[in-house]
Amino acid sequence: MLSLQSPLDMHLHLREQDMLRTVAPLTAKSFAAAVVMPNLLQPVNSLDKVRAYCSAIKGAISTACEDVVFTPWMTLFFRNYSRAELIAARPEIIGVKLYPAGITTQSEAGVRDFDAIAATVALLEELDIPLLVHGESSGFVMDREAEFLQVYADLIRNFPRLRLVMEHISTAAALEFLDKHEQMAATVTLHHLMLTLDDMAGGLLQPHLFCKPIAKTPRDRDALRRAVLAGHPRLIFGSDSAPHPRHTKECCGCAAGIFSAPVALPMLAQIFDQAGRLEALQAFVRDNGLRFYGITPPDKTVCLQRKPWRVPENYGPVRPFLAGEELQWQLVDAEV
Ligand code: NCD
Ligand code: ZN
Repeated sequence: MLSLQSPLDMHLHLREQDMLRTVAPLTAKSFAAAVVMPNLLQPVNSLDKVRAYCSAIKGAISTACEDVVFTPWMTLFFRNYSRAELIAARPEIIGVKLYPAGITTQSEAGVRDFDAIAATVALLEELDIPLLVHGESSGFVMDREAEFLQVYADLIRNFPRLRLVMEHISTAAALEFLDKHEQMAATVTLHHLMLTLDDMAGGLLQPHLFCKPIAKTPRDRDALRRAVLAGHPRLIFGSDSAPHPRHTKECCGCAAGIFSAPVALPMLAQIFDQAGRLEALQAFVRDNGLRFYGITPPDKTVCLQRKPWRVPENYGPVRPFLAGEELQWQLVDAEV
């Protein structure tokens, strides 16, 4: 038996309407809180939208499971905000999420001109609001993350007190960069600890393993895995669980995103256990995030046991990561 105190998913997509109602309870079962991404069809780019989305999430969860403890930590979609807007939003958000325009799912409203964001980033630094970044350039897809490191370097030089999160890092280069810059943290997904490009495109194309940033080389994957298992203090678990209905994945023009919410904690337990590093899991799924963000999660104990189960083929319209596979750890009380 393994009990985790207040496990956190520090990068999560919950969507809206029926999809929200399908996926949010699955995260609420595993995690005490999660950082919710703002890339809805209409981006969450005002305090009113944050409030409306937050209450939709809470409503979806409480309808499905009445007494569950779960806090959505909200983010604002980056645009150029005024000081008054950020001061008003600050108590209700955990950070501001920046997407380069068009780089991933529902990011069209993102940043086109990085020279035009300085005033808002200066306010984030001054008000001590973390900036969460989808760090990819528009270059060759395997090089995008490494190329974007220059943007991080400029941000760090210009805003030395800004709290900066590199989201879902997928390369050894990003890890090396992180090690040189104390003011940063990085989230790491489950799938980037497991996959390489070969898993997605090396044989028959696997649309359910297609996500942004795409999985990279074995060397990248192994570097991330080693650092996480060694207990790197600024690597934070963020699933980037990103549900898309099957018909938008299994088609010409597959949507980017892997839905990992229901398997995230069991599979992490399996990876840490197999490496003989179970004792390092608590820091990855809670302590490292808390230290960086300086927040307190709700109290919640989540128990897992070493007992095989088979991952369902579908959750509503979505096919989960590792569908049909047997995992060695499961949530206690999990309905499978
Ligand atoms: C995410 C989504 O579907 O919203 N997709 C993905 O491939 N990770 C967006 C994102 O985080 O890039
Ligand atoms: Zn994401």
